[in-house]
Amino acid sequence: MKKIFSMALAAILAFGVTACGSKADETTDEGNAVSEETDDENPSGSTANAVKVGVSMPDQTLRRWSQDGKNIKAQLEAVGYDIDVQYAGNNDVGLQVAQIENMIDEGAQILVIAPVEGASLAEVLKDAKDSGIPVIAYDRLIMNSDAVTYYATFDNYKAGRLQGAYIRDALKLDSAEGPFNIELFTVDSGDNNVNFFWAGAMDVLQPFIDSGKLVVPSGQTKLEQCVTPGAKADEAEKRMRAIIAEQGYSPSGKPLAAALASNDAVANGVTRALLEAGFERASGFPIITGQDCDVASVKNILAGTQAMSVFKDTRALAAQVVNMVNSIATGSPVDINDTRTYDNGAGVIPAYLCEPVNATADNYEALLIDSGYYARNDIS
Ligand code: BGC
Repeated sequence: MKKIFSMALAAILAFGVTACGSKADETTDEGNAVSEETDDENPSGSTANAVKVGVSMPDQTLRRWSQDGKNIKAQLEAVGYDIDVQYAGNNDVGLQVAQIENMIDEGAQILVIAPVEGASLAEVLKDAKDSGIPVIAYDRLIMNSDAVTYYATFDNYKAGRLQGAYIRDALKLDSAEGPFNIELFTVDSGDNNVNFFWAGAMDVLQPFIDSGKLVVPSGQTKLEQCVTPGAKADEAEKRMRAIIAEQGYSPSGKPLAAALASNDAVANGVTRALLEAGFERASGFPIITGQDCDVASVKNILAGTQAMSVFKDTRALAAQVVNMVNSIATGSPVDINDTRTYDNGAGVIPAYLCEPVNATADNYEALLIDSGYYARNDIS
């Protein structure tokens, strides 16, 4: 067993996997030390004895999740693990539970899970805990379960803050007189990240709502009123349409300055409803935020119908998970940078938070194309 892990660590160096943040380099250094003992190994491909890692992703409709799955698989396979990646259809809780059950039955030794619904896995993960299988929550926290060993994610509060700050700066809320109309949209209530996205954005925007410089004409200002079931574009479109009909927003009538959208799927739905209501780039499209740099949204950013997205480089998150898996497997210290933010109801889960950044028409080229995240023809 030790031999395989040593190979894995040696290969991490050889393949130059880079995780987010500087602390990741320390993990790589540890790998260096171990690899020196294994010069005679052949560090490629999985072996019959390879450690089995089960990876469960919530859905495949949003491109980010298929990228996550592919990145984790490629990076872990490259260092010799045996990987089983499963996608839970289109956010199907029951299917995800069945897939995880199956992974445990098939002898998974480590589980990496992005839950469809944070609180729905407690039961199935009891089996993981009983079988001594470490569980890494991926991107979204798994709630109310003491089976969760580590959490690898982005700084979700910061992602929300970036969105709020973008609206603040674009509308020059610090100096402009206003008032400006805004409507608020976030993701699914079963996704623990919703609380962080919302808190980050509202910590920036709420003072302007309180002072009257920002007005939410629909009156829908509470998180529960602004969630989007399944974070689906169609649901966001439906709600935006209803608000447009009720409020009479139109390019020549009641103005809408901005819509906070926590992610790109939600942003796309909002954008569609606004286009249908006659808003267009030429007459000033409302400022719409997003998250994920999903292909459709990058196209909208270039077309001027979405202002920004938050880029979360899934390659970096996958690399962090590879580091975690290796550390767990070798019994080395796991690289974490947060031990207080993420309480899942059974305790605070030690976490590694990667950095999200703003993506706009001004920097997408360097961020997404030059870095190889997308090919140019993906988004044109
Ligand atoms: C993820 C986002 C994603 C959303 C909807 C969140 O938990 O962090 O990146 O857009 O789920 O799938």
